[in-house]
Amino acid sequence: MMSSQHPGTGILSAMYGAVRALQLYPLENEVVKRGLVEVKEQADSILKLEGGLSIWVAGNYMFVNDLQVKLDLHDYASLSAFREVLRSHGVGRMEASPKSSAEDWQAFLTLIAADPEPGQPPLEALQAELQKNGVSRISVGPPSAMFEGSDAQQSAEAARHTYTRSVKVARDMMEGLVLGKAIGARRAERAVLAVVDQVLQEPATMLGMLTLRDFDDHSYVHSVNVAILSVALGDYLGFNREQLFELGFAALFHDIGKVLIPPAVLNKMGWLNDEEWRLVSQHPDFGLLMMFSVEGSEDLPYRAMLAVYEHHMKPDLSGYPRVIRRRRQGLFARIIALTEAYDAAISNYSKQFLPCSPDEAIRQLREAETGAYDAVITRAFVNMMGIFPVATLVILDTGEMGVVVAPNPNPKSLSRPLVRIIANSDGERVGDGPIRDLTERDPETNQYRRSIARSTDPERYGISVADHVA
Ligand SMILES: [Fe+2]
Ligand SMILES: [Fe+2]
Repeated sequence: MMSSQHPGTGILSAMYGAVRALQLYPLENEVVKRGLVEVKEQADSILKLEGGLSIWVAGNYMFVNDLQVKLDLHDYASLSAFREVLRSHGVGRMEASPKSSAEDWQAFLTLIAADPEPGQPPLEALQAELQKNGVSRISVGPPSAMFEGSDAQQSAEAARHTYTRSVKVARDMMEGLVLGKAIGARRAERAVLAVVDQVLQEPATMLGMLTLRDFDDHSYVHSVNVAILSVALGDYLGFNREQLFELGFAALFHDIGKVLIPPAVLNKMGWLNDEEWRLVSQHPDFGLLMMFSVEGSEDLPYRAMLAVYEHHMKPDLSGYPRVIRRRRQGLFARIIALTEAYDAAISNYSKQFLPCSPDEAIRQLREAETGAYDAVITRAFVNMMGIFPVATLVILDTGEMGVVVAPNPNPKSLSRPLVRIIANSDGERVGDGPIRDLTERDPETNQYRRSIARSTDPERYGISVADHVA
């Protein structure tokens, strides 16, 4: 089993340890020497596995490569102190190339261990010093503007960052496999962990990402969306982090076999002929084979690989691949079958159908014929999403317009979610207005104050719903 701990913590604490040592002792000191060796080793192990090392400071968050590093209780003090060191030099991001040497690290850490010179912009001063010392393989840059702002904005940006990176990893993996490149499982693992953590921390914000439409590559976006939905549903069903990781992994790569199918067939509008259909329906078999060609495949979770093979089988085994002997479609595959149907319905990923609104997609899943999806999992999914899922744009009977930000915590009130008002009853936009609980009643009449009249299409109003969810 692959490790699910945060590899980013190691390099950050090593760097902070070395900085502290450099602040207290001269270079020749043993503590300093050991500290520098530790940094070099930590950096090299990441560089070797991932080909690059970048550290981001983003408000209260830190990222190592794609992965947000959780500040645990025992290393909280040192990691936040290190964040302050970087910040005092105006550093928002730092990059090291695989060729970075022990001398580069020593020079870099010595420079940031010193207080910045007063009176000049700290980042420019640091960059000039790096250049003067011949350090070209470690570079620093300013904080990204996207991470400025309130906590809510920051968490939305952290979610968007994780989302965008995951799309990129999915794309790189799949494109790499087509070209026969050896692709490390490790990078995929980190992308999946980032999704799991982000879903656990900010489920609503992550579900809001499903409505982002500013990507051209629908198949990779579909993979990431299915991963988000599956991890959220797994969490709802009580899975632990390890299980969520395996489920997320399976979900991110459930359609990996499609890379072997010609795009002309995959993107064909209208019905497929027999030959084309035969090809498309082989993608679970192809997928399983491709999982074995991933570098480090012996470490891939077995249940995840099985789910790739089984995700179109259907609980009554009427799907594909056809099976001769009786078997049970696994739990992961049942979850993915449902979440992928939902994403396919709301997105323009499938060329065969027009996208529908989230509440319409939920209705279709509830009304699907028995045997198509697991009944218990479908019910859990509907309870989790609500009848009007997060990020549905709704018109209320008061004439107000709002965006669903959370399902009602009471499963009996599934059609009465929490809604953020974004336009008043005169149709005037109010930005991020108040959040209203639709179970709220007027004490005098005992009538609901607000109910959903209907859902509507955000594109018609030019609204990016994801911006209003967090
Ligand atoms: Fe599929
Ligand atoms: Fe799919």
